[in-house]
Amino acid sequence: MKRLKTAVAVIALVAVGGLGFIYSGVYPMGADEPHTKPVYWALETLRERSIAVRTGSIEVPPLDDPQMLLTGGADYNDMCAGCHLKPGKKSSEMSAGLYPQPPNLSLGADGHAGHEGGHGDVNTSAARQFWIIKHGIKASGMAAFGPTHDDARIWAMVAFLQKLPTLDATQYQILTARAEAEAGAMNGMDHDSGGDHGHASPQANEGQAAKDAHAGMDMPGMTGDQPVAASDVSTPSGVMQAFQAAMQAGDAAAVKRLLAPDVLIYEGGAAERSREEYAGHHLGADMAFLKTSRVDILKQSSGGDERMACLTTESRIRGKSSKGKPASGPLNP
Ligand code: HEC
Repeated sequence: MKRLKTAVAVIALVAVGGLGFIYSGVYPMGADEPHTKPVYWALETLRERSIAVRTGSIEVPPLDDPQMLLTGGADYNDMCAGCHLKPGKKSSEMSAGLYPQPPNLSLGADGHAGHEGGHGDVNTSAARQFWIIKHGIKASGMAAFGPTHDDARIWAMVAFLQKLPTLDATQYQILTARAEAEAGAMNGMDHDSGGDHGHASPQANEGQAAKDAHAGMDMPGMTGDQPVAASDVSTPSGVMQAFQAAMQAGDAAAVKRLLAPDVLIYEGGAAERSREEYAGHHLGADMAFLKTSRVDILKQSSGGDERMACLTTESRIRGKSSKGKPASGPLNP
């Protein structure tokens, strides 16, 4: 009985002490003053245990679909990069001032301040990211995106996040470019209706120079099974050369062999979403245009890893187009 009384008294004292501490206002809540070690530990453990308990049953779908990377990349650039940064950017006004600080997601697990050694295998890490993006994290800058984005959209962001630490600045730009293409279309900036209208002669655009940067991507399965004769298609730039040559030669069969069935082609704001769509749509006109054009490559850079290659080419194209329409199309993908 005596022991019980003592226990009750101790508990009451702790409760009163705790309440007194809370009401005293001594604990600093400003984001510019870090938590004390015990509070940091308690909050971190609370967060990680809470997430771990809730992610165990999440089934991770396949995340290697290139389309997912493009959707997720554009979403990431729009909604997340301001806080979570991107290759080549070490801090932003948002990221520097937030507490807890948003981890730089363009660095691998090693780059995460605070969280030891990443989060286990790819599945665990993907499930954890999915849960965090969907539900957010209380009392941090991390919002819940579940109320405004369906699961497919969120998984696409996860797919992109898994890839993000391996991307350099150019690859990042390519994978997140969709948003820019769409923005370009909205602003009427696509090169179908571009700035050349002003001085385009009504008959033909002889000598017109179209200078544009086009980005090409080559992912596994994007190249056909049969290599095009006389071209080294074992390297990304070889594939691109073969593609260019086939386009200029007007060899539709060779062009189609080099494109994956599910290739996605951006054309100044619009997109062709498969090989068949392109073949039945712009391919003929593009080949006809390139046959009588001259293409000079000004700059080319490539990068990537064994799963994905990125090739960026800047070129100058001089050509005539029919009916005075300015030069257009994926002239130099
Ligand atoms: C306003 C800033 C902000 C924005 C915008 C934001 N986040 Fe966060 N995010 C945070 C902060 C802060 C944390 C860390 C929370 C913590 O440690 O308690 C975080 C944590 C995360 C984590 C967990 C990282 C880890 O490994 O611990 C992921 C994943 C994440 N965010 C993804 C996203 C994605 C995807 C988007 C865009 C859809 C996004 N965030 C938008 C601030 C932001």
